[in-house]
Amino acid sequence: MSEFSKEVLKAYEMAKEARLRSYSPYSNFKVGAAIKVKNEDLICSAHNIENICFPAGNCAESVALYSAISQHGKKEYEFIVVVADTKNPTAPCGICRQVLSEHAGADFPIYLANLEKIVEKTTLGTLLPLSFNALK
Ligand code: THU
Repeated sequence: MSEFSKEVLKAYEMAKEARLRSYSPYSNFKVGAAIKVKNEDLICSAHNIENICFPAGNCAESVALYSAISQHGKKEYEFIVVVADTKNPTAPCGICRQVLSEHAGADFPIYLANLEKIVEKTTLGTLLPLSFNALK
């Protein structure tokens, strides 16, 4: 039996599938992500979307969260899964950590995965300690 829940495994598969649609002609680094809405059967997946004006690009994690908010309104979130084709797992960048911290707490689980498996579970608080959030 897997050490991960059915929902985490489903999100992993969705993130992997979304990753294949990555628009990343500049870095050629494809990332997928999937975020689960708390207490609802809703998982939103996404991929990174780059732009010739590099700072205008968006990471998979931010696109997944913003898609979830856009499609379902502001909710609470249960976890996010991030998938990239790397041996060591790819963790969310600093900006995505900040983006997530607006909508999730320190105990928010972040699963880091490659194309073979989920490699590591961490939390937002671990990746972004002492975060700035005036609303909390
Ligand atoms: N990227 C993500 O989408 N998520 C991460 O966690 C790390 C980086 C994207 C941004 C850019 O499109 C490409 O990967 C290379 O940095």
